[in-house]
Amino acid sequence: MIYMDYNATTPVHPDVLEALLPYYRQAFGNPSSIHWAGRMVKGALEEAREKVAALVGCDPVEVVFTSCGSEADNMAVKGVAAALRGKGNHIVTTAVEHPAVTNACLYLESNGFEITRLRVDRRGALNLDELEAAINEKTILVSTMFANNETGVIFPVTEIAEIAARRGVYFHCDAVQAVGKVPVDCRGMGIRLLALSGHKLGAPKGIGALIVRKGVKLHPLLHGGSQERNRRAGTENVAGIVALGKACEMAGAEMAAEAARLKSLRDRLESGILALFPDAQLNGHPENRLPTTANISFPGLEADSLLLNLDLAGIAASSGSACSSGTLKSSPVLAAMGVEPPLARGSVRFSLGRENSESDVDFVLDVLPGIIERLRGQQ
Ligand SMILES: Cc1ncc(COP(=O)(O)O)c(C=O)c1O
Repeated sequence: MIYMDYNATTPVHPDVLEALLPYYRQAFGNPSSIHWAGRMVKGALEEAREKVAALVGCDPVEVVFTSCGSEADNMAVKGVAAALRGKGNHIVTTAVEHPAVTNACLYLESNGFEITRLRVDRRGALNLDELEAAINEKTILVSTMFANNETGVIFPVTEIAEIAARRGVYFHCDAVQAVGKVPVDCRGMGIRLLALSGHKLGAPKGIGALIVRKGVKLHPLLHGGSQERNRRAGTENVAGIVALGKACEMAGAEMAAEAARLKSLRDRLESGILALFPDAQLNGHPENRLPTTANISFPGLEADSLLLNLDLAGIAASSGSACSSGTLKSSPVLAAMGVEPPLARGSVRFSLGRENSESDVDFVLDVLPGIIERLRGQQ
């Protein structure tokens, strides 16, 4: 079985699992309890906060643990909207965001906010002059991703942050696909709010974080107890938090070497496919991309049939197209990039990670020609 869908989720790293298990067994306390059982876990929580902060370049007090990346994105977008409503009702985002941001913005739009969605070019890149021009006196937030989940395209986050800061507007960055894969530095890059998710970097599902830099005004999404300095109510997911801390610590130590290894595997896969199928097309910027992600369109094919056949061969990959009620809908990300619907419908995303090896890539390159020949023969 070959797994090449790491942008969807990652297996829990064995060392991370090892680190979290005691927090389901002997260290089961509630961190808010003042007795020994509570004290046993309080320290672990703060240690994990320090590890997350170290990976993304912020202070530990600026880390707010959430249940996932989607919650962190919602908290940033809706939380700023609620806190700054009196100042303005305009948000600038992009046409290629994850639904966690897109749908939070749609919700706000139906409640009186104005949303500007910046276009991207054919390679998925933003035009920063358009960002500059979109900001007006009612703008309270710029929200863009760090790296795109479908194409891996990386936005110029430092420049975006600089423009937002110069115009006196908060910048929220959805860095769910970037953290652990490429360097992310809230301080150095000027990011005021940043979302991340544990299950994308070897921690389990059910844990994420929003970095809220000092001075940022934000209303909570969840009201209740005073956990997370009153910013996110609810008894903490201690085991998940410990796991996220461990995963961040490991990512920090291994990122440079792992990124280089995965980039060479990804490039081998990508150039292999493009050599086998000269009409195939790479979606996204050729260089300015996550080292792990390749999004390739196979003209004339439907991604779902291709993925089904890859699955039969034991290969897990994914597509940006979603099949709903029998009709294949093109991915909004590829549509925003101007990829024609027939090409977008034949697009497959391979996203690589820790357990992939050269032999995995070679196996995919071995079986793909037979599958595509068969599918084209059926047309
Ligand atoms: C860019 C991006 N943002 C947000 C999310 C949501 O993260 P989660 O699955 O932890 O809610 C994802 C998940 O795929 C993502 O790729």
